[in-house]
Order: sequence, then C-alpha cells, then structure tokens
Amino acid sequence: MSHADDHVGTRRDFLYYATAGTGAVATGAAVWTLVNQMNPSADVQALASIYVDVSGVETGTQLTVKWRGKPVFIRRRSPEDIESARAVPMGDLVDTNARNANIAADAQATDENRTLDEAGEWLVMMGVCTHLGCVPIGDGAGDFDGWFCPCHGSHYDAAGRIRRGPAPQNLPVPTASFSDDTTILLG
Ligand code: FES
Repeated sequence: MSHADDHVGTRRDFLYYATAGTGAVATGAAVWTLVNQMNPSADVQALASIYVDVSGVETGTQLTVKWRGKPVFIRRRSPEDIESARAVPMGDLVDTNARNANIAADAQATDENRTLDEAGEWLVMMGVCTHLGCVPIGDGAGDFDGWFCPCHGSHYDAAGRIRRGPAPQNLPVPTASFSDDTTILLG
C-alpha cells in the first residue's frame, strides 16, 4: 500500500468512528433535554456545570451525556464490575495515576480512587480515548470487561484504566459529585 492510500484509509476510519461516537452520545439525549430546561441558556451551559439525573440508570448500564462539548460516561457498575476492578494488582496497570480531578494529582489508580462513591458503584469518566480522541465502546467491551476503542484497539478495564493498546492514560475522571441521592453534578 502506498503512503497516499494509507492516508485515505485513516481518514475513512476516522469518519466512521466519529459517526459511531455521535450515536453513542445520543443515548443521553433525554437527560440532556432535561438539563437544557433547568439551565438558563445553552451558551452558559456549554461552559458551566450541569446536573444529571441518574435515577433511571440501572445497575450494569451506562448513561452518556454531553458536557462541555464532550461525551461523559456515567456507569452504574454491577457487583461483578466492582469486584473485578478491585482485584487488579497495581503492577498490572499501564498508567498508575488515578487521573481523577476530584483527588490529589499524584493519587494512585486504585479502583477506589477512580469511583465517585466509596462503594464503587458509580464511575464517571470522559468518554474520550486518551490515544487520539475516539469515543470508546462500553458495556463490558474489550478484553478487560470495560471499554474498547475500535480506532486503534485500546482496551480499558471496568474502572476505565488503560490495560492494552496504544492509549497512554486512563480515561480521565472529571470534577463530579452527588448533589443529592439521584443527581450528579459535573463541573
Ligand atoms: Fe482510541 Fe486510538 S483513538 S485507540
């Protein structure tokens, strides 16, 4: 294959996955509509914090919302997800930094340091692959029961930590907190 052909292939791949990413974001449309009604203007909302109603998120499923122009994964993990993520030795990790904006910058990437609640049920992460920015596929995808980025084959585990493939870092955890039992504040 010539160098030029290679470029065409790469561009096609990019367009395909960009479309797939848009589809994934659409699953959060209902919540996004609600958020729109609660906030004064789209301009302000694009830059500011948003509240996400997670009362309808069942165990073992994921809600994807758009925040500051990017997808955010909000996963309600099953006991099996939690158990498998907590059983991973630190020595098996590619990136040992928690990448969690809510805790110390040098915190280790234990499962406990990645989740929003102490029990580890809620995992909130930017849905942007740390390699070149594609949107990974969720629902236990990949070889580590977490997320898989089809663009170049990065596998993330059930805590969103990179385990195999070209992505250099764990999926980042944005500033997030529970504002009440069923509402997560992003930002
Ligand atoms: Fe995800 Fe390259 S963008 S593996």
